[in-house]
Amino acid sequence: MFEPGLLKDKVVLVTGGGTGLGRSMSTRFLQLGAQVAITSRRAEVIEKAAQEMTAEAGGQVFATPADVRDPDAVTKMLDAVEAHFGRVDVLVNNAAGNFISPTERLSHRAVDRVLGIVLHGTFYCTLELGKRWIAAGQKGAVLNIATTYAQSGSGYVVPSAVAKAGVVALTKSLAAEWGKYGIRLNAIAPGPFPTEGAWSRLMPTPEIQRLFEERIPLRRMGEHQELANLASYLISDYAGFITGDLISIDGGETAWNAGEFNVLDAVTKEQWDALEALRKKGA
Ligand code: HXC
Ligand code: NAP
Repeated sequence: MFEPGLLKDKVVLVTGGGTGLGRSMSTRFLQLGAQVAITSRRAEVIEKAAQEMTAEAGGQVFATPADVRDPDAVTKMLDAVEAHFGRVDVLVNNAAGNFISPTERLSHRAVDRVLGIVLHGTFYCTLELGKRWIAAGQKGAVLNIATTYAQSGSGYVVPSAVAKAGVVALTKSLAAEWGKYGIRLNAIAPGPFPTEGAWSRLMPTPEIQRLFEERIPLRRMGEHQELANLASYLISDYAGFITGDLISIDGGETAWNAGEFNVLDAVTKEQWDALEALRKKGA
């Protein structure tokens, strides 16, 4: 389905591209012919990842560090990517911070940490690059990595839920405002995909992991390649008429949570037989 040159001639910038899902997406973009730039706070992590990705998938990866919470650092990072590749065609806002905690235990600094990375970081990168695209009369695409609970909200990850909801609002708002410049913005809402970064902070024990898996109709976690392929499609020209949308890839988790009778998953075949017998007896 994915032709090798799908992303040929596209320069794709991925924040948080040295680890987890960012790295998997970056590798897939490379395989599909893109030139890829990755950024995150830890220079040594992205430099090593860039070398390994090039060895694995070929092509060119440029690594340049930045803390997306710092607008000046974002400007310098974009200058460096443009100096290296000449331009940027696609921005994937994937960098994030998150942890589980009862909200009443959080300090304002903890709230700021997550909002700073997820909401401000995404906004700063999008704003700086959007200004450059508009000034140059260049078209572009932004893909924001959100979460399933960006729409529903969720306890125990409240700063993340608030920040990701803001990211979805940014996606839809700018899709409306910047469509006239040929700039598309979309977001993906992934269900659980095992990564070291997320699992160490959010799924610390096998028991907690099982709780999540049981709520997914397909009874499994996502595979990185599934997300990477969706992202590749959305940033490709084949998705040229898709903008302002939030696309779920969650094994049915969102649908399951929304339906109040889906708790009947817990009713066994024998219990259904007994209920049916009662109904037939007219009880
Ligand atoms: C409560 C916490 C906390 C925790 C940190 N803090 N961890 N509070 N519970 N588990 C508080 C600290 O006490 C401190 O406040 C403040 O937050 C800043 O903490 P630092 O450790 O100094 O912050 P920093 O080193 O900048 O780290 C930022 C971070 C960290 C967000 C806390 O986890 C990080 O760097 N994460 C990046 C990667 C990441 O999170 N990946 C997962 C994304 S997964 P005080 O008041 O004490 O000074 C994801 C998907 C979700 O988003 C969906 C999965 C299914
Ligand atoms: P991850 O590996 O921890 O990715 C987070 C990345 O963000 C890291 O590379 C980190 O690198 C970077 N980052 C953090 N703070 C930064 C900052 N201030 N400036 C620049 N970069 C920063 O976790 P992941 O699971 O792959 O998550 C990737 C994305 O998917 C996130 O947006 C997450 O919310 C989303 N998501 C994941 C899941 C899942 O199940 N895994 C589910 C839903 C959504 P440095 O530490 O080097 O800065």
